[in-house]
Amino acid sequence: MQGRQKVEVLLVDDDPGDSELVRQMLTDDFTVDVVNHLASVMGQLKQRYDVLILDLNLPDSQGYDTFEAVENMSGEVPVIVLTSNSDRKLAMKAMSHGAQDYLFKETINAEVMVRSIRYAIERNKLVQEQKVITRELQRSNAELQQFVYVASHDLQEPLRMVTSYLSLMERTFKHQLDPKAKEYIDYAMEGGNRMRELINDVLAYSRVDTQGKKFAPVDMGAVVAKVLAILRITIEDTKAEITIDPLPTINADESQMMQVTQNIIANALKFHGPDRPMIHISSSQGDKEWTFSVKDNGIGLDTSDAEKIFQMFQRLHSREEYPGTGIGLALTKKIVERHGGRIWVESRKGEGATFFFTISTEEIWNGKRMNGKSLLRP
Ligand SMILES: Nc1ncnc2c1ncn2[C@@H]1O[C@H](COP(=O)(O)OP(=O)(O)OP(=O)(O)O)[C@@H](O)[C@H]1O
Ligand SMILES: [Mg+2]
Repeated sequence: MQGRQKVEVLLVDDDPGDSELVRQMLTDDFTVDVVNHLASVMGQLKQRYDVLILDLNLPDSQGYDTFEAVENMSGEVPVIVLTSNSDRKLAMKAMSHGAQDYLFKETINAEVMVRSIRYAIERNKLVQEQKVITRELQRSNAELQQFVYVASHDLQEPLRMVTSYLSLMERTFKHQLDPKAKEYIDYAMEGGNRMRELINDVLAYSRVDTQGKKFAPVDMGAVVAKVLAILRITIEDTKAEITIDPLPTINADESQMMQVTQNIIANALKFHGPDRPMIHISSSQGDKEWTFSVKDNGIGLDTSDAEKIFQMFQRLHSREEYPGTGIGLALTKKIVERHGGRIWVESRKGEGATFFFTISTEEIWNGKRMNGKSLLRP
């Protein structure tokens, strides 16, 4: 560090002997200030430090509480825990909650101390840069979502004008229009209706995060039963046979779980082959998640298309072959991810398909693990 500014160290330790030892280890390139009470740390931090070295046992605070208090005060200043060998467990806990390193008083020497400080400073720089990038990403994501919402919402109005004047024209000039003109108006109307569907799909997609409800216990068996009632006519028309294993109660957004199961089951009914649809719904419990599966005996798909179908408006067939806009699985994927889960398909062309999705059993909010943190904290 020759030619550069000195590294400013704040040592929080109440033992004068230990403090002196640290001072002796950190000579030329370092300046060391010492405070010996937790109560003095906040005031001292008004000065800018490069690193904070912390003894966990102080006269006014003991053990992990000391680390927690200092970590909350230290902001961007990296913290190294300096402790006695008997506090090994505590040191590990501090590391997993943001400490940059821990050093044992019994074994410390100048080389280890200097290296630990330098690493802590460098690592901390990376962490801070990462935080800036994450904040920027979150901001631009929110902006994009807002843009999609506003754009699609505002497109609805002029579109409504186009289609309503077209039908007005059709009605008013019913007897004056020749068949060709009527046919053209019909095409234009069809285009308009299709555009309305697409706009509604984009709106639904952009609302998954912004208008999602708080998670609460959801009985997935009841959800599937409601979905089957909605799909009753298609089930009767196709003579589908649907079997369902007992399903669990999970922590989720109920109306979004309805959307997920409805999209997947509707697909299983729609993309059936020459035989009548046979659909089996089941679930299994893993370590941190439930896995649900919907297996069908339909037309199946190539493995090479297995990822593509979860993208917006990506379909493997024309609308003449099978109706739809291609939003169902994209929407489903976004909802599943909001619940901390994944979705995938296992299939071969002509051999049916099984769709799997997981729902996390951990505390999740909009796709992020909360780990007991309050929703108000970043
Ligand atoms: N069970 C299935 N078997 C075979 N192919 C499927 C199955 N489910 C989906 N696919 C393929 O994935 C594509 C995308 O599905 P998705 O649900 O997103 O759209 P869609 O059903 O075509 O339209 P929408 O759901 O918007 O009405 C489908 O067009 C189809 O090609
Ligand atoms: Mg679909």
